Amino acid sequence: MSDTIWAKSPDALHRRGQTSLETPLESLDGYLTPADRFFVCNVTETQRIDPATYRLEIHGDAVAEPVTLTLEHLAAMPRHTVRSYLECAGNQRKLFGALQGQYVERTEGGEDVPWVLGGVGMAEWSGPRLRDVLALAGPCETMRWVAPLGLDIDNPECPIEIPMPVEKALHEDTILALTMNGAPLPADHGFPVRAIVPGWIGTYSVKWVGRITASAQEIRNYRTDEYYVIDGVTVTRQNVKSSLALPFPATMGPGPKRIHGYARSPDRPMRSVEWSANGGQSWQSADIISPNEPYGWVRFAFAWTATPGEHSLMTRATDEAGETQPVTCPFNPGTLLFNAIIAHPVTVAA
Ligand code: MTE
Repeated sequence: MSDTIWAKSPDALHRRGQTSLETPLESLDGYLTPADRFFVCNVTETQRIDPATYRLEIHGDAVAEPVTLTLEHLAAMPRHTVRSYLECAGNQRKLFGALQGQYVERTEGGEDVPWVLGGVGMAEWSGPRLRDVLALAGPCETMRWVAPLGLDIDNPECPIEIPMPVEKALHEDTILALTMNGAPLPADHGFPVRAIVPGWIGTYSVKWVGRITASAQEIRNYRTDEYYVIDGVTVTRQNVKSSLALPFPATMGPGPKRIHGYARSPDRPMRSVEWSANGGQSWQSADIISPNEPYGWVRFAFAWTATPGEHSLMTRATDEAGETQPVTCPFNPGTLLFNAIIAHPVTVAA
């Protein structure tokens, strides 16, 4: 494996699969994830796009007139800013094995990225709304599906073209991001233009967008019909999760600790994060120590006195609508959306 796969140094991250990088959550101590620590999920190498020759084409049977836009044109449009976490649908898939003893690896039809806890990050994204960009091509009333295509077209799997229903495409918070945390998108995160589809699994946030198809017909492909599917239904929305910002499993010395972690609900503020050190027999409230916004994750913390021996620390997040985490997560062959309460193993040395 060569380091030219990514533009950034992979040294501070865990390599996962051939082309992806996982964030060690324990290396984070803030709300927004710095770009150099942000996980990377790539089906192939990071694309290096020349901004001078970059073009975005909007076409399809549901626009009046196809248009081709330059980066200058997109950069001159009104911008909308969204603070949203981004999480791979397969994040935590290793826990189906580690916590539930279920089969994890899928090798047929593409390799799964073996994520533990850190296939997730939180950033501030800014760029024109997708609906404003579509408007330039004269969308027809017949428009039902919108599919951004990534410029990593020659990837070994099928192209990254992820169709979304028109309601999500025209949502005020669905954007074509030009910046991440106030700086131009880094190459690894989609420079010069990526979709941000808040609340939905990370795959919808297509990087290096080069073409957008707007259609009256439903657009379907391998990803919508085979890869991102649970019980015959295409996965779209994320689910409620919480995890500790500790290695999995963790080791530490004895004494008083301040343990922290990240909890997220796809589209609602968090009502509570609780923790348990006795296998879930009793729960205590953790402090939420960050902003608590609809598409954001929250950072939480609690005090725990580590005594020598083997421990298991659990956390449970509940959002404003009462959506919470199950005790176990029903297995699905794609090992997607693992969101059970995590019994995080912690060994405390004498
Ligand atoms: N877009 C393109 N063009 N190519 C990709 O490989 N990976 C997707 C999505 N967009 C991908 C893509 C997946 S599976 C995820 S989880 C997110 O990008 C990850 O975004 P990040 O690499 O910026 O963290």
